[in-house]
Amino acid sequence: MDIFETIENRRSIRKYRDTPVEHDKIVRVLEAARLAPSWKNYQCWRFLVLTDPDRRALLFDAFHDKNPGKRAIGSAPVIIVVCADPAESGVENGIEYYIADTAIAFEHLCLAAQGLGLGTCWMGWYDEVYLKNVLSLPDHIRIVGITPLGYPDQAPKQRPRKLFNEIVFFNEWSNESR
Ligand SMILES: Cc1cc2nc3c(=O)[nH]c(=O)nc-3n(C[C@H](O)[C@H](O)[C@H](O)COP(=O)(O)O)c2cc1C
Repeated sequence: MDIFETIENRRSIRKYRDTPVEHDKIVRVLEAARLAPSWKNYQCWRFLVLTDPDRRALLFDAFHDKNPGKRAIGSAPVIIVVCADPAESGVENGIEYYIADTAIAFEHLCLAAQGLGLGTCWMGWYDEVYLKNVLSLPDHIRIVGITPLGYPDQAPKQRPRKLFNEIVFFNEWSNESR
């Protein structure tokens, strides 16, 4: 699939079929994440892949009932907990780059999944302390995001985006610039 088509067609998927995801597809999306760029190429990211239903069930209570993706956490056949070791990245101008490093890898994963016909949903609204405890993650590891992974059981329309001219400025910081 063409990369632009993949980007244009990706959606946050919050409803999944219970069809299992083939192991080689799980590996391929994680390989795509592994190839992401990072601060000094330190590759601070770590991925905890949960396929075991009992392990996946541990996550559910970490999500607020108002989180629109909570149902997907309870139903998708695979959950990937996207983590980072902040010590394996840098801080510059007050920006903690472990978040950027891991977010890039996360988006590689999401786009690769889209390319394989699989759905994902970046989720950032959860109780990290609770999750680290139930999953027995080491203290120094941060959870940067979580995604369900599976075959979509919905086909959402493209969600709205700001207009090009609202967010892109050529040469001068001005909406008038072209
Ligand atoms: C950092 C981040 C955190 C997010 N957290 C959640 C979340 O906790 N629950 C959820 O349902 N969606 C979450 N989303 C998905 C966004 O709501 C979604 O990307 C946005 O509405 C645009 O929709 P689209 O991804 O289909 O284009 C998150 C996305 C990002 C990038």
